Amino acid sequence: MEIDGTPYRTIWVETPGRAVGIIDQTKLPHRFETVTLSTMEAAARAISDMLVRGAPLIGATAAYGMALAMNEDPSDDGVRRAHDRLLGTRPTAVNLRWALDIMRALLDNRPVGERAALAWARAAEICDADVEICKAIGRHGLPLIEAVAAEKPAGEPVNILTHCNAGWLATVDWGTATAPIYMAHEKGVPVHVWVDETRPRNQGASLTAWELGRHGVDHTLIADNAGGHLMQHGLVDLCITGTDRTTARGDVCNKIGTYLKALAAKDNGVPFYVALPSTTIDWTVEDGIADIPIEQRGGTELTRIAGRAAGGEVVEVDIAPEGVAVRNDAFDVTPARLVSGLITERGVADATAAGLKALFADARPS
Ligand code: MRU
Repeated sequence: MEIDGTPYRTIWVETPGRAVGIIDQTKLPHRFETVTLSTMEAAARAISDMLVRGAPLIGATAAYGMALAMNEDPSDDGVRRAHDRLLGTRPTAVNLRWALDIMRALLDNRPVGERAALAWARAAEICDADVEICKAIGRHGLPLIEAVAAEKPAGEPVNILTHCNAGWLATVDWGTATAPIYMAHEKGVPVHVWVDETRPRNQGASLTAWELGRHGVDHTLIADNAGGHLMQHGLVDLCITGTDRTTARGDVCNKIGTYLKALAAKDNGVPFYVALPSTTIDWTVEDGIADIPIEQRGGTELTRIAGRAAGGEVVEVDIAPEGVAVRNDAFDVTPARLVSGLITERGVADATAAGLKALFADARPS
């Protein structure tokens, strides 16, 4: 994707074999700043402090974190410690474990002197593969948008609701939920996106609205609770969200509030699609509600809000009574029965065990 005419990925090699660059997403939409990561610890903190976020980008950053760790300590103990440190950064997105397990399997039993070079090369492959996967998701999701467009009067936009940021900023490039939208836009299919603000961290307002705006995609920011109302009035043609972990039977775990959108969509006959790379499928879990670990985040995400003041500086203000009890579950699970289809890099699967198995028979452990 391009920022002011410069093509960017969300993570890139800044100094070969030494350092990677990332966009500090905590500064968006007010400032576009990049940060250099040159230690494993810096990569771990970038994930836990959410300078990078979104399931595929978390996995990609962790892969480079392992590469950085191999510069510091390529011993067996170094591999194990880096794996454990990075794995502990965020609990819900399974791409983290997926990437770390790939890196560990690559490094275990290899000569210590070769490990750094191997890790840097594999991390780059993971990033390149993510870009291709997201493009393929876009190609498979595009016909869903085109089909709605074909039923509408010429020129009338397809109204798509999305939650959180499953966009370019959540992946290495293109996004998952946004990939079909960007492809429709490029092809001249009129699209308009309803962007849920996505409390408490406001990834919709700060990130999705920002990236759609940068790419010239028509969009409107809405309050988190507005989606159901818009659906009742026929203003949403389809929903497309991302997922941080998809179970073997098609349950999807995504940013808190996704479940309520899926319920509203079901009640109003609005198709509810979830876009995902197969790296997000956790084949070891069937029942997402019972078995996916849900990240609990700090209470200040709810009691305090950050924004740009009239003078241009970014400030934080408290919005709740001091000392109020807070519970901040960051994700929820949408059961497969509420999902119209899973848009993957291999095609659109039914959100069922059979549907996923049909597309990923080779990937699913027996
Ligand atoms: O807490 P975040 O910002 O990492 O949550 C991100 C999401 O919920 C995305 O929808 C999900 O990771 C899918 S990303 C393609």
